[in-house]
Amino acid sequence: MADVRLRDVKKQFGALSVIKGVDLDVEDGEFCVFVGPSGCGKSTLLRMIAGLEDITSGALAIGGQDMTKVGPSERGVAMVFQSYALYPHMTVAENIGFGLRMTGHSKEMISERTAVAAKMLQLEPLLARKPGQLSGGQRQRVAIGRAIVRNPEVFLFDEPLSNLDAALRVQMRGELSKLHQDLKSTMIYVTHDQVEAMTMADKIVVLSAGKIEQVGSPLELYHRPNNLFVAGFIGSPKMNFLKVQVTAAEGGNLSVALPGGVSLTMAGDGKAAVGEMTFGIRPEHIDATGKGDVVLESTVNLAEYLGSETLFFVTLADGSELSLKADGLAREKPGDRLKIGINAKACHLFNKDGMAVINGDLTR
Ligand SMILES: Nc1ncnc2c1ncn2[C@@H]1O[C@H](COP(=O)(O)OP(=O)(O)OP(=O)(O)O)[C@@H](O)[C@H]1O
Ligand SMILES: [Mg+2]
Repeated sequence: MADVRLRDVKKQFGALSVIKGVDLDVEDGEFCVFVGPSGCGKSTLLRMIAGLEDITSGALAIGGQDMTKVGPSERGVAMVFQSYALYPHMTVAENIGFGLRMTGHSKEMISERTAVAAKMLQLEPLLARKPGQLSGGQRQRVAIGRAIVRNPEVFLFDEPLSNLDAALRVQMRGELSKLHQDLKSTMIYVTHDQVEAMTMADKIVVLSAGKIEQVGSPLELYHRPNNLFVAGFIGSPKMNFLKVQVTAAEGGNLSVALPGGVSLTMAGDGKAAVGEMTFGIRPEHIDATGKGDVVLESTVNLAEYLGSETLFFVTLADGSELSLKADGLAREKPGDRLKIGINAKACHLFNKDGMAVINGDLTR
């Protein structure tokens, strides 16, 4: 078991600065998920923790020991990649034990550990098969088995499920969460999948252009984003943003001018001032039946009837656009008028620098 601590970690590829000073603490036994746009440095940061990339400057400690310059095999970590790269001519059992054979472990020890991993991953009936005779999900489990037998202190996963179809992903997601409960090891997991991040993580790290934007529990990031980037990144469909004028800020309360001459009063904490700001509201927090503190007139542009819910894309009086999630029974069509309700407690407000000045909270 081990915690992972990064201090002002940076990575340069020649003149290109890819990781620009990361400070991060992953606690012992924690499931930590890295998310961020493509190219922001998630894999690079993971590979630096694994020892597959040098750390240009800064420090890395695992389990209290400085690992900044220690070789990958000495770090007590095991990494599972997106492309599982199994040896096609070896059986499942041979694939799982391969790393241990290369490091000269005894036959007994290898078969013992392989058996334990195979049981955990429900691979027992498949041990004699070759990778070509397995489904994608089974192959990915073999790759995870290869990591488990090494008894790592820290597991590193780089988008391990992204090659699988949707149903298998859901199943493997559950299996990985179960594996984490059983092994109680520290896990760091990179994904593009919002649902994976929200459901598996104890802690999510949102990265953008080589820097951390925010670290927090899934619900902290969802309800209390620090800035516009995190607000727009966490949640699907993404939060709606409107440029608005704050026309009055008195006694902590703010008057926000919304399209169509509607004024919404939001309870602030004195940090916000009069002027231009960005207003944010999530699609699931807009009421398609017109209930709320204020009502906006809109016209439906596009409707997606998903059965369980209906997604509407609407235009407001000033031409700005919003998306909203309605009950699956909502039947408005493109061109129809829709009165939408806004509850002040569900709204967010961001200043000129993109920092959150109000994060509404429906639970309060
Ligand atoms: N060996 C390398 N040499 C030069 N640049 C590199 C190298 N590896 C990665 N990069 C660059 O570093 C940046 C971060 O890459 P990285 O693979 O870490 O992104 P990522 O967040 O994992 O993206 P994705 O979500 O697409 O996997 C990219 O701009 C990439 O082009
Ligand atoms: Mg990557």
